[in-house]
Amino acid sequence: MAGQKICVVGAGRVGATLIQNLANRNMCSEILVRDNNEGVAQGMCLDIMQSAYIAGSTTTIRVLKDNTELQDCAALFFCAGSPRLPGMTRSDLLLANARVVSEVFSEFKPYLKKTIVVMVTNPLDAMLYLTRKILDVPREQVLGMAGVLDSARMAHYIREKLQMTASEIIAPVIGSHGDLMVPLGRFATVGGIPLPDLVTSDVIADIENRTRNGGAEIVGYLKNGSAFYAPARAAAVMAEAILKDRGDILCASVLLEGEYGFDDVCIGVPIVLGASGCRKILNYKLNDTEKAAFEQSVASVAELITILKNEQVV
Ligand code: 2OP
Repeated sequence: MAGQKICVVGAGRVGATLIQNLANRNMCSEILVRDNNEGVAQGMCLDIMQSAYIAGSTTTIRVLKDNTELQDCAALFFCAGSPRLPGMTRSDLLLANARVVSEVFSEFKPYLKKTIVVMVTNPLDAMLYLTRKILDVPREQVLGMAGVLDSARMAHYIREKLQMTASEIIAPVIGSHGDLMVPLGRFATVGGIPLPDLVTSDVIADIENRTRNGGAEIVGYLKNGSAFYAPARAAAVMAEAILKDRGDILCASVLLEGEYGFDDVCIGVPIVLGASGCRKILNYKLNDTEKAAFEQSVASVAELITILKNEQVV
């Protein structure tokens, strides 16, 4: 949208693809990029601006020069850090990426009083918790991208099973962005028809398992990193919801303060997303099995937060 600025930290594959997504769609007037490798950032800015010209966009993309420029950014997307490699879980990245998150946000803190911050780096929920602790801003302002990605994967597997390249599939995935994420087959719909009315419970269980393993499946093929096209597009959808104050209902990680029975943990739940960040957290009426799965998911994030506390990172 004209006049709006965003910042992207990390010009790796996810960050660059996110920037290209936003720039080619003319979603904002300016994208500021911060990467420790200035040459890579400069080259990427030029390349994507030239791509934006071809796409008919007027978005300017340039390296962040001075941290005070962050003050009028509508949103900041954090994509810096190491990706996972074959054999690694997202949690294996905890301490290495926590250092990057701490360094950057300690430096940026004075300038992000109003900006909506979206964490993309893994392990997502723990990195979000750390970010919120450092920035000390209202929880509505600090969110994590993962539910949109995990839901897209689930929708993809539903399409595959139904052999139908349909849109209008709602496939909610809550919980952590990790092996214990909670795909909610019972709440999935295809054009408004509940998924359980379309396929058997075995098929739903298979879709849910593939969703949980969706990131690892791609890491296994790529060998030198993790998925980036879908993560970047998912982040771009969140950027669009913020920039256009759209009120999209989507799953995202946010600090819980009693919702779903938990407190002081960042985890994926359905939210309403607009220019002020999380406008509202929605409540699924989970059955006992889903509740137990969500509880395990929360416990897995709480374990990572405890490690960060023991290491005195938070
Ligand atoms: C994924 O699920 C990298 O966490 C990201 O692909």
